[in-house]
Amino acid sequence: MTFGSGVTRVHERRWWPMDNQLRRPDVPAHVVRSIRSDDAPRLQRFHLRLSADTIRRRFFGAHPTLGDVEARRFTDLDPATDAALVAIAGDRIVGVGRYVRIGTGGCAEVAFVVDDEFQGHGIGTELLTLLSRIARDDGIRRFVADTFADNGAMIDVFTHTPGAVTVEGITRDGSVIHLSMRVAHPAEIGSAATGAFTPEAPRL
Ligand SMILES: CC(C)(COP(=O)(O)OP(=O)(O)OC[C@H]1O[C@@H](n2cnc3c(N)ncnc32)[C@H](O)[C@@H]1OP(=O)(O)O)[C@@H](O)C(=O)NCCC(=O)NCCS
Repeated sequence: MTFGSGVTRVHERRWWPMDNQLRRPDVPAHVVRSIRSDDAPRLQRFHLRLSADTIRRRFFGAHPTLGDVEARRFTDLDPATDAALVAIAGDRIVGVGRYVRIGTGGCAEVAFVVDDEFQGHGIGTELLTLLSRIARDDGIRRFVADTFADNGAMIDVFTHTPGAVTVEGITRDGSVIHLSMRVAHPAEIGSAATGAFTPEAPRL
């Protein structure tokens, strides 16, 4: 199966098995699936486990809790504009990648956050790669993202995941940089991104 043909719209709820070829050998056991509206309490618990620094990098300031309204907004998505994937270990969310379409064009803003304990094991890379597949299938051709200029991990993920995006522009505004990326075309992905896609999500 080639990259593009197996992609689904996010509301169709696919999940990616743990032996997916995108996985690095050192990655802690988890599965990735689309976020669901019943994830709101899970997302709130995930947020409470994040360090202050991880929260600051994701929300650009203090954000100690995720309120009920915000948690609903982050989990009850409009599939026409939003997509979000969660990495799940056991019953815990350990990573989230999302995009929100900007206007009516083929551009979306992306954001990622991974549980401190799970950072540096390839989960951010995996979420970006899978999210780019969904985006491509939904007609999105560009991702944009804001991140702190000293956020080496995030910049590294964006600049070293050619199977997902190619960074084409970076502008700086004080301590924040704005990245503009082209979403990879299926032909650029090659065999590394083929993998089995399972049509129904397990109840995780
Ligand atoms: C940014 C983030 C999502 C990346 O997720 P992750 O699962 O840790 O990322 P990965 O493990 O896939 O990749 C991290 C890469 O960055 C590298 N890296 C880690 N820390 C780094 C640092 N301080 N400077 C440079 N590179 C770094 C790793 O070596 C790895 O590269 P590799 O794949 O070549 O080995 C995660 O670190 C996070 O949640 N950070 C806090 C929230 C945040 O910054 N969000 C971004 C807002 S858009």
